[in-house]
Amino acid sequence: MSLLTVLHYPDPGLRKRAQTVTSIDESIRILARDMLETMYAQRGIGLAATQVSIPLRVVVMDLSEDRNAPQIFINPEILTTEGIGEGEEGCLSVPGFFDKVPRAQRITFQYQDLDGRLIAAPAEALLAICMQHEIDHLNGKLFIDYLSRLKRQRLRKKIGKAERDPAPVL
Ligand code: NI
Repeated sequence: MSLLTVLHYPDPGLRKRAQTVTSIDESIRILARDMLETMYAQRGIGLAATQVSIPLRVVVMDLSEDRNAPQIFINPEILTTEGIGEGEEGCLSVPGFFDKVPRAQRITFQYQDLDGRLIAAPAEALLAICMQHEIDHLNGKLFIDYLSRLKRQRLRKKIGKAERDPAPVL
């Protein structure tokens, strides 16, 4: 098992479009396992391979309270959407920043599991939001892209300042 490095905005690697996984082999199983370990270590609930510099369509999640229900989605795709809601989101690639993002309330989606089986499922609430957020990652899109220009400018300033003038780490 190994921890992977999570890219932070504005790293250009986050803008790459991930490729379809054509063969679910041992390397994909290892990637999914390492992604889960990385996600748990950083206390995230979802992680897309794009965020760890691997341009493949692999997503992991654990939406359970007890952090004991890992899920792996290969080549996830949204099939239908219904309704519009808004929930507060954060992202391991935009640390310390949270804001409301409009998302479809209910979706149906499909994915492959580690055995290559194609599965279609409905989703609502947190799973629907997380699936939309992670599939956006695979397409090079971040949740902050949905915010107003003003809010994004403020965020860029804040991040620019943090990079020029890092707080002491004690
Ligand atoms: Ni994210």
